[in-house]
Order: sequence, then C-alpha cells, then structure tokens
Amino acid sequence: MSKRTVITFGTFDVFHVGHVRVLQRAAELGDRLVVGVSADALNIAKKGRPPVFNQEERLEIISALKVVDEVFVEESLELKRDYILRYGGDVLVMGDDWAGKFDWVGDVCDVVYLPRTPSVSTTGLIEHIASLG
Ligand code: CTP
Repeated sequence: MSKRTVITFGTFDVFHVGHVRVLQRAAELGDRLVVGVSADALNIAKKGRPPVFNQEERLEIISALKVVDEVFVEESLELKRDYILRYGGDVLVMGDDWAGKFDWVGDVCDVVYLPRTPSVSTTGLIEHIASLG
C-alpha cells in the first residue's frame, strides 16, 4: 500500500505543549507529516501584529521535531487545496477551533479535526508573560 501523507497548517508561534500534541496526533494518522507554517505577513494581516518568532525561526523549530517530515511556508490561507495537492496530502488535519471550516477541500483529501489541548494558547502565553512585567 502506498504511504499516507498527513498535512497540517498553523502559526506555531511561542511553541507550546498544545502544538506538540496536535503534531504527534496528526503524525499518527499517516506515514508522513507535512506542516505548513504560516508566513509572518499572513499573521500581520490576520492579527495586526507579527509573531514573536519569525517564520524562519518557526520553520526551524517545527522541522526539528521527529514527527515532522517536511515543512513549508504557507503564504496564503486561500491556497489550502493547492498546497494539499502540491505536497501530496491524503489527510488534512486541523485543530477543532477550525471545525467545519475546511470541509471544502474534502474533494481532494480526508479532513480531520482534532480536539485542542485545553488551557494553553500562544495568545494566553503572551498575555501571561506580559503580565509578569
Ligand atoms: N492547538 C491545539 N491545542 C492548543 C493550541 C493549539 O491543538 N491548546 C493546535 C491548533 O488547533 C492548530 C495548531 O495547534 O492546529 C497551531 O495552532 P496555533 O493557532 O498556531 O496556536 P494557538 O496557541 O491556538 O495560537 P493563538 O493563541 O495565537 O491562536
């Protein structure tokens, strides 16, 4: 049987345990894990601020994980289907904060939403660190 490629996307800024768990669970759904790390420009457009760690740093962190086989920069949120086809994704995995939002790529791959790890987020961590003064 041919290898099953899992693809997922995210910012993965201020890397935390919720990130590592979603990547580990995504990897278990196939033989090969490809991760699209969102570009700094995308985050600036979406959140009005750049990530704490720039895209080269975030790519370096994600690519160092043993469950990750390949990384690339996600330049546009609208290109999900093109990225899935380009990287041969058989399964798209997203956190369930995105539940239902990517069903439109279901014509080219399976779509799986995994539950988020409770009580941790990059935004929460940034606020917590800022409050330490
Ligand atoms: N994720 C997760 N559990 C968490 C936080 C994130 O499973 N507690 C998953 C997301 O669902 C997504 C991936 O990790 O699939 C990358 O999420 P990202 O948005 O980069 O991280 P957040 O911590 O949610 O960042 P923010 O607070 O800026 O939204």
